[in-house]
Amino acid sequence: MSKKIISIASDHAGYRLKEQLKELLQEDNYEIIDRGAFGYDSVDYPDYAERVCKDVLEEIVDFGILICGTGIGMSIAANKIKGIRAALCFCPELARLARTHNNSNVLVLPGRFIAPEFAKMIVDTFSEAEFEGGRHERRLQKISKLEKSGDENDKGCLQP
Ligand code: RB5
Repeated sequence: MSKKIISIASDHAGYRLKEQLKELLQEDNYEIIDRGAFGYDSVDYPDYAERVCKDVLEEIVDFGILICGTGIGMSIAANKIKGIRAALCFCPELARLARTHNNSNVLVLPGRFIAPEFAKMIVDTFSEAEFEGGRHERRLQKISKLEKSGDENDKGCLQP
């Protein structure tokens, strides 16, 4: 099986898990692009969400991983970026569904709540699962329409 390429980033609260997970992934069949943070100094998670999402949208990686304390801030930030479908997953089954139903391209992990080995299981599941298409494709198209409704010159579905 060919190597999966992942762009990964965290804030200070996700830093420990990022480092531990990175090691486990590198021992396995993954190539990692680390976009920071590079220590425990306090940083702002949206800056790191942006870096990973850029890699995902430029298609230089197979998918992205973002880690903050809860995973919530990273999820909110990443999902503001058009084309990003970030999913906060705290168990493998959620990761499977995030791929098969939502075609998620960014996996978000709660750094303060899960152990590295469990996080690795979540990543493996996310990596192996494939989008099912069909009815889920229609729903993703509706999400893209919602994204367009945020554009200044396109009120989309929010048009009165
Ligand atoms: C940082 O203290 C924390 O707020 C952040 O990592 C994250 O959990 C935000 O959602």
